[in-house]
Amino acid sequence: MKKHNISQVKGEAKWMLKYAKHYWGAILLYCVLGVLATVMGLAGSVMSKYLIDIVTGYDTKAIGWVVSLMIAMGIGNIVLNAITSRATVLISTKVYNEIQAEIYDRVMEADWESLYEYRSGDLINRLTGDVKTVSDSVISWFPSLITKGAQFLGALVIILYYDPTMAVIALLSAPVSVLMSRVILSKMRKYSQELRKASSEVITYQEDSFQNIQTIKCFGIVDFFEKGMRNVQQKYKDLMMDYNKMSITATSLLSFTGMLVSYGCLGWGVYRLWKGAIIFGTLTLFIQLANSLSSSFSSLISLVPQAVSATTSAGRIMSVSEIKPEPVIEEETAQKIKENSSKGLEIRIENIDFTYKGGEKVLSNVNLLAKSGNIVAIVGPSGEGKTTIMRIILGLINPQSGKSVMRDNLGNECALSAATREMFSYVPQGNTIFADTIVKNMRMVKNDATDEEIIAALKTACAYDFVKKLPEGINTIIGENGQGLSEGQAQRISIARAVLRDAPVILLDEATSALDVDTEEKVLKNIIKKDSKKICIVTTHRPSVLDICERVYRINKTNFEEIKK
Ligand SMILES: Nc1ncnc2c1ncn2[C@@H]1O[C@H](COP(=O)(O)OP(=O)(O)OP(=O)(O)O)[C@@H](O)[C@H]1O
Ligand SMILES: [Mg+2]
Repeated sequence: MKKHNISQVKGEAKWMLKYAKHYWGAILLYCVLGVLATVMGLAGSVMSKYLIDIVTGYDTKAIGWVVSLMIAMGIGNIVLNAITSRATVLISTKVYNEIQAEIYDRVMEADWESLYEYRSGDLINRLTGDVKTVSDSVISWFPSLITKGAQFLGALVIILYYDPTMAVIALLSAPVSVLMSRVILSKMRKYSQELRKASSEVITYQEDSFQNIQTIKCFGIVDFFEKGMRNVQQKYKDLMMDYNKMSITATSLLSFTGMLVSYGCLGWGVYRLWKGAIIFGTLTLFIQLANSLSSSFSSLISLVPQAVSATTSAGRIMSVSEIKPEPVIEEETAQKIKENSSKGLEIRIENIDFTYKGGEKVLSNVNLLAKSGNIVAIVGPSGEGKTTIMRIILGLINPQSGKSVMRDNLGNECALSAATREMFSYVPQGNTIFADTIVKNMRMVKNDATDEEIIAALKTACAYDFVKKLPEGINTIIGENGQGLSEGQAQRISIARAVLRDAPVILLDEATSALDVDTEEKVLKNIIKKDSKKICIVTTHRPSVLDICERVYRINKTNFEEIKK
């Protein structure tokens, strides 16, 4: 393997070890259980030697204790298996949940723009498939190494005791196997990475299709998507078959070596029996031990692809956990400003430039001022940067130059970032209703809100008239993407949610675009009338809104022009 690959794998293994350390006690218990099972298995082999010796008449006195011990070991094995299975499920689920929760938190707290590079289907696949692979390996890989290693060594020691020459024959397969696993290691890693990528593609394709099923049906392109689905599946299958071909070649060669060694041992045992050097029972013991040796060796070898697959998955999870977290700056000042917000606030944007990663300049030298009690409008053609300026105000993205700050009336000032976001109520463009009841959608932003407060907010957004007519009122369940509501109704619930949050600044991004002119005016007037200390920033294509605004900015090819002061 190449050097940088080796250091990458080391990093991934170290990362997995970090989780393994949390569960070292459980892993130790697991090792003890495994070793116990191995000892019992080996003891069983020795027992059967005695049993055969009894049957063939060499030693008939021991029948009583040999049979009792064999029964006891059989029962012991069943108990051990039950304990091991229970421990496996408990621990691997714990590790799975721990890693998944940690990565989920990282995604939720990640820098918004950096997260944009990942498709949600891919993220889901990493959080489920890859986390499962890693959590299974964390709990099983090391104990397997210990137990299979113990089985291998145990069998070898017993063979050595009875017949050193046979031990040498048994070990002949080792160098061949070690050499082969080195050769296929880097190939396996490449396939493993491609397979994970292909499985992410399948999930992303399905997720996209389900999200847009209405569009797909309406355009009559169901066939196209069904074919597309089969194409991504085919790609996955082709990769799987290639990987399988490589792994069959490797295992066949390994099995062939194992077979030769087994026959070698058997031949040697028969020869010794023929020469009268050993008795029947010992030959049976040798056959069993030779099998035990070769099976434990194959298990040890199979830990190699398992490690490759686990480290590949670990790498995929690590890259998500390494996404830059959102910077939280000047938290203390932001807190002070929040406490003083009732005395008046202002949002000041001065000479900012902004370009999305790899995109063209969206905003250049832009200025904007919004003070408490102001309704400020941003107008302009589609795709010119209205939503972008909202994202800057919310601190979701940071301008490359210039200043974007919030100030209170006591002279405290801090940059707009995740720390100032608490002071905003935001109604984003598009449908942002969660698939849950109306009341739960509302309480998401204020979990101690009473039903009365919720109803009052719905009334402010002119939504209560239709909500009260729904079969379950505010407890009506809304489907995915606001299913069950019209576009304008969903918009009004989004607005009501922002009103309920009751933050000092309210941002409405085309939030009233689906409403008729009268309702739009009524909603906006309601929001503003409610509290004259609020700042309200709206983006709109509607001239009717502009009459009630104190200040209006028009975007003109990356520049802001103040058209109403
Ligand atoms: N996440 C993003 N990554 C890269 N470029 C983006 C991203 N979001 C928007 N853009 C680009 O930035 C420009 C401004 O987009 P923005 O969404 O701010 O426009 P808008 O004025 O809100 O348009 P509309 O009226 O259609 O909502 C567009 O050219 C768009 O392609
Ligand atoms: Mg927009």
